[in-house]
Amino acid sequence: MQAAVFRVYGGPDVIDITELPEPAMYAPDQVLIEVHAVALNPLDTRIRRGELSFFVRQSWPARLGHDVFATVLACGNKVTHLRVGDKVAGFIDRSHCPSLMGFVRGGALAQRIVVRANTLCAVRGAATADVAALGLAGQTASQALLDKTHIQPGQKVLINGASGGVGSMAVQIARQLGAEVTAVAGAEHCHWLEALGATRVLDYRTEQVLGDVQYDVIYDVVGVLKPAQARSSLQAGGIFISNIPSLRGMLRAALSRLLPTWRPRFAVVWVKPDYRAMERLLSWYACGKIQPAVSARFNWSQVREAFEYMESPRSYGKTLVLLGKL
Ligand SMILES: NC(=O)c1ccc[n+]([C@@H]2O[C@H](COP(=O)([O-])OP(=O)(O)OC[C@H]3O[C@@H](n4cnc5c(N)ncnc54)[C@H](OP(=O)(O)O)[C@@H]3O)[C@@H](O)[C@H]2O)c1
Repeated sequence: MQAAVFRVYGGPDVIDITELPEPAMYAPDQVLIEVHAVALNPLDTRIRRGELSFFVRQSWPARLGHDVFATVLACGNKVTHLRVGDKVAGFIDRSHCPSLMGFVRGGALAQRIVVRANTLCAVRGAATADVAALGLAGQTASQALLDKTHIQPGQKVLINGASGGVGSMAVQIARQLGAEVTAVAGAEHCHWLEALGATRVLDYRTEQVLGDVQYDVIYDVVGVLKPAQARSSLQAGGIFISNIPSLRGMLRAALSRLLPTWRPRFAVVWVKPDYRAMERLLSWYACGKIQPAVSARFNWSQVREAFEYMESPRSYGKTLVLLGKL
């Protein structure tokens, strides 16, 4: 069985496709899946560069990939929501149980993997390999806009970093909830973001992001805005949501929860595989309310090129690696 691995930390050139033993199921709540497509995330880049080596313990050769579209080949006897032959998608975890810190064990860039079944949802009806792109990014945006706040129709939402994987999902989710969405991105993505549902697009390189409008929600996907500066751009009761977890941010979020007078209200997202969020994303996808925002697709032999593209300023939305015919 082939898998994309790396043996030293570094750039995309450290990635190799290699033969590994077939994966074996060892717990009754796991499934064996055949992978058709994997969506890449900045998390994969940070793992490969060794930036998370303190938190994510690697066994070598180390594996990459967290988001899949796949077919179920075998189910453990405690798995009730999936059957052999089901098409599935999700933000996977190869660990037997969720880690206390919230880190997952990736490794989706392989022909076959064994994962915890509750990180996958069945994809009913017609679906393309692009649904792999809904996993981590879609669940992150869901956690921010559905769990950290309750958006009402007509509310004003600012998405900073809207053209990336998380931002493009956030624009669609906020629009789907009836919000008026201002998207912040490079000017070259303006029309694309309008087509995804943004009412207004600001170019962060040439325009002031905060100033003339007061928002109900500011979702800073790329973590470049200062909550204190954003305070005057939030309605009374508005919330600032950061996508970049940090000790300081966690502390600020805890204080914001404990002290109702804390302004601005503040929350931090730390995504974990969420079956319910994935189900909701897939149901919205099935009725055409959201789409996986895939900008480039690469073949299995082009895994390095796929990472080079995702890590370049040219990329937007999601990057997919296709492992073979469906
Ligand atoms: N907390 C969590 O659980 C969690 C989960 C997922 C991701 N993240 C983090 O969230 C960040 C975004 O993830 P992603 O998957 O969306 O990344 P991505 O696909 O690489 O997108 C990043 C986007 O940010 C835009 N950008 C760059 N500088 C900007 C600036 N100064 N102002 C506004 N936009 C700017 C770029 O847009 P242009 O191309 O238009 O310039 C790019 O498309 C990453 O740091 C990732 O590690 C956190």
